[in-house]
Amino acid sequence: MLDIIKQNAEIILNKIENKPELGLILGSGLGVMAEEIENPVYIDYAELKEFPVSTVEGHAGRFVIGQLSGKTVITMQGRAHYYEGYSIQKITLAVRVMQAVGIDKLILTNAAGGVNENYSPGEFMLISDHINLLGDNPLIGPNLAELGPRFPDLSEAYSKDLIKTAEQIARQEGILLRKGIYAAMTGPSYETPAEIKFLKTIGADAVGMSTVPEVIVARHMGVEVLGISCITNMAAGILAQPLDHSEVVEIAAQVRPDFIKLMRGIIKNI
Ligand code: 6GU
Repeated sequence: MLDIIKQNAEIILNKIENKPELGLILGSGLGVMAEEIENPVYIDYAELKEFPVSTVEGHAGRFVIGQLSGKTVITMQGRAHYYEGYSIQKITLAVRVMQAVGIDKLILTNAAGGVNENYSPGEFMLISDHINLLGDNPLIGPNLAELGPRFPDLSEAYSKDLIKTAEQIARQEGILLRKGIYAAMTGPSYETPAEIKFLKTIGADAVGMSTVPEVIVARHMGVEVLGISCITNMAAGILAQPLDHSEVVEIAAQVRPDFIKLMRGIIKNI
């Protein structure tokens, strides 16, 4: 595992001039943010060793490295999901590699379903904490002691400092920014209304199929994390309408200008 991480980091470092300081993971429909990157270097996941390649609509599969709002960033345009059948260790390899090329902060974005009834599609939610309902954990197996501890603390998984900065930017830009708890389910089927009632009862505000494995691996290595969900739809049973992946992609496209403004402001100020 360490070997593969180092080899991939070498491949990337050989193609770029400046070491990235910040990582970005762009969720479903949010990948256009990568087009904002100046002097981009593209590295397809297919060029890297043992990288899973995502097949979902709305996801490209590559790193984009370059300058964004004054910082050198490494961006994942598309990510692999657990429901695609890859191991949880494999879907978090990219985070290990980003840390190995130099990042000490990571911004993760995703499309999520609204569980909190006060939320509406098109709103953003800062992730204040998460609930891992995947029934799996990327740190299961031998601990990579060179990278982090056997039993990492997750009592502040999502950096309070980064949350404060994001809230300031949202206020300045006049963008409504919710703050709540993200529950991770495996998918790929959406939840039943009974499951959503359960998630609400245990304190979730949004539900999705990603992010949590990557956050656990980032925190294992001491990487600071900020998580932003785009609420693309309400979860099952909240509105009397079926869920459809096309609305996820559609809403994500609608919020694009605000998403870019918010992300640019955050990146500049962290
Ligand atoms: Cl309702 N559930 C899950 N698990 N992921 C989602 C979603 C719902 N809406 C967008 N992504």
